[in-house]
Amino acid sequence: MNNNRFKDWANDYQIFEDLIDKNDKEIQEDVAKLVKNYLPNNESIIFDAGCGTGNTAISLMKFVPNLAIILNDLDPEMIKQSKENLKPICNTCIFKEGDAISVLQDENPFDVFVSVLIIHNIAKERRRELLELAFKKLKNGGLYINGDKMIDDKSPDKFTEKYNKRIEKLSVLKEIGRDDLFEKWTQHEKEDFENLQTIEEHIKVLKEVGFVDIKFEKQLGLYSIVTAKKPWY
Ligand SMILES: C[S@@+](CC[C@H](N)C(=O)[O-])C[C@H]1O[C@@H](n2cnc3c(N)ncnc32)[C@H](O)[C@@H]1O
Repeated sequence: MNNNRFKDWANDYQIFEDLIDKNDKEIQEDVAKLVKNYLPNNESIIFDAGCGTGNTAISLMKFVPNLAIILNDLDPEMIKQSKENLKPICNTCIFKEGDAISVLQDENPFDVFVSVLIIHNIAKERRRELLELAFKKLKNGGLYINGDKMIDDKSPDKFTEKYNKRIEKLSVLKEIGRDDLFEKWTQHEKEDFENLQTIEEHIKVLKEVGFVDIKFEKQLGLYSIVTAKKPWY
C-alpha cells in the first residue's frame, strides 16, 4: 500500500461524512464518550493517531473540555487542517506530523491511545508494530480505543454486501460534479477492502501484545469499535 494514501485529500475529506457515511460522525462521538467514561482524572493525556482534520479531537473537546491531546498525522495538509479546526477550541492540543510508528517512539507515556479509521491504511505487516508501541507508551491501566473498518467474522458475506453498497453510494459524487473524487475514492475503497482485517484478527494481536480487558464495544455499519487496557504492573 502507498505510504501517504491521503495526499491532497484534506480539503475534500469532510464531503465523505456529509454525503457518504454518517457513521463517520457517529464513530467520533462514540469514541469520545468511551474516553469520557474511562478518564482517570482531568490531567489525562490522549494520543490521537491519524487525526486527519481533527474530527476525533473535536468530539473529545465537546465531551471533555481541557483535555491534553496529541494529534498526529502522516499527511502535512491534514495536520494543517486539524490545527485550523482545533486551535480556536483547544489550547492544550499539540500537533505532530509524521508516521504514527515513528512519532510514538519518542512519545512520553499517555493515558489513552485513540485511533479512528487509521489502522486499515497501514500495511498489514506494520500493524502489530503500531499496537506494540501503543502498549509500550500507555501508562499502566491505560486505555486503547480503535474504531475502524473491520470485517465482521460472524457474517462476512453481509459485511461484503454492505461494503459493495458503500462503493455504489460513491456515485453521489458524480451527481455533485466531482467525478475526480468519485474515481479516486472508488479506487481507495477497493484497495481498502483488500487490506481489511477481521475483528477477531485485531483482538488476537491485542492479546498477543499484552492487552487485557479487550472488548468489542459496538458496530456502526462497516465500522467496529474495540477497546482494551494495559494491565497494572
Ligand atoms: C480515514 S482518515 C481518518 C481521520 C480521523 N481519524 C477521523 O476519524 O476523521 C485516516 C488518516 O490516517 C492518516 N494516516 C494513515 N497512515 C498513517 C500513519 N502511518 N501515521 C499517521 N497517520 C496516518 C491519514 O493521513 C489520514 O489523515
